[in-house]
Amino acid sequence: MKQQLDAIRETAEKELENIKTTADLDSFKVKFLGKKGELTNILKQMGKLSPEERPKMGQLANEVRAFLENKVDEQTKKIKDIERNLKLASETIDVTMPGKTAPLGHKHPLSIVLDEVKEIFMGMGFDIATGPEVEWDYYNFEALNIPADHPARDTQDTFYITEKMLLRTQTSPVQIRVMEKQKPPIRILAPGRVYRSDAVDATHSPLFHQIEGLVVDKNITMADLKGNLEQFAKRLYGEDTKIRLRPHHFPFTEPSCEMDVSCFRCGGKGCSFCKGEGWVEILGGGMVHPKVLKNGGIDPEEYSGYAFGVGLERLVLFRFNIDDMRLLYDNDMRFLSQF
Ligand code: DAH
Repeated sequence: MKQQLDAIRETAEKELENIKTTADLDSFKVKFLGKKGELTNILKQMGKLSPEERPKMGQLANEVRAFLENKVDEQTKKIKDIERNLKLASETIDVTMPGKTAPLGHKHPLSIVLDEVKEIFMGMGFDIATGPEVEWDYYNFEALNIPADHPARDTQDTFYITEKMLLRTQTSPVQIRVMEKQKPPIRILAPGRVYRSDAVDATHSPLFHQIEGLVVDKNITMADLKGNLEQFAKRLYGEDTKIRLRPHHFPFTEPSCEMDVSCFRCGGKGCSFCKGEGWVEILGGGMVHPKVLKNGGIDPEEYSGYAFGVGLERLVLFRFNIDDMRLLYDNDMRFLSQF
């Protein structure tokens, strides 16, 4: 039996040296030290020994067991170290490698210019107002002094939903909605989508954007309109920009005007862009018509106001020197990623 024990100890020791993984170590433990392992098998034969031999063999067997358990512990530590180093090596991060750049989105040119315009007017104390795109005929036309038979209706090719409901053709109805809810002083900017049944070409689209402005207070005059809009033009197109007001007609303002700015390409000398004029038109405006103030629930004897309406697309085309409005709606990344 002593020989058997010595033999186990010898083979076990050799096998152990070659073990390189935790899994192999586990099967080794089962094979030699487990309940059905080789050592236990030998101990089961103890009964056949004489009473004198038994304690000696018992001691020897325990020594072998202790020896092997010790060795297993040592090997376990070694393997753990090796496995840990392997794991660390495979997880090494080279912090000097360049990072992966996430593709950043771009602001749409319409948003860039709208944000600038908002910024300019908010700096002058304007609040942002909104109104519905599906609008009543009353707000879009009637209350703005454009009755049913008014020729101005023909110039705005309207998408009607019912006889009384339509897609707003202008942001001007927001004027009435704001006046109905708010007492003067009023100072609002109302940007939004508007709709007209126009065929698509380089300068027309059935959906486009306007920005409406409305100021109502005591003693508001044309000088306020001129001063504020001059500031706006200079902030948007540069300090050297000049403005001029030309008489015009809108049903909801009296007097009415159109505002030109000095041509941003030639600075006013006259070029192909401004058709030799030196000026380009950018907005319409005027003093709010007394009837319109009344329709908004404001007493025209006590208050006066000015209003204006700008086409956002026009501002964008001028600003970025783009000659076709369709580019703004095509969502072509080759175009959009330039901004
Ligand atoms: N609503 C007009 C249009 O769509 C633009 C406009 C002109 C708005 C004069 C105004 C204004 O508020 O005073 O053509």
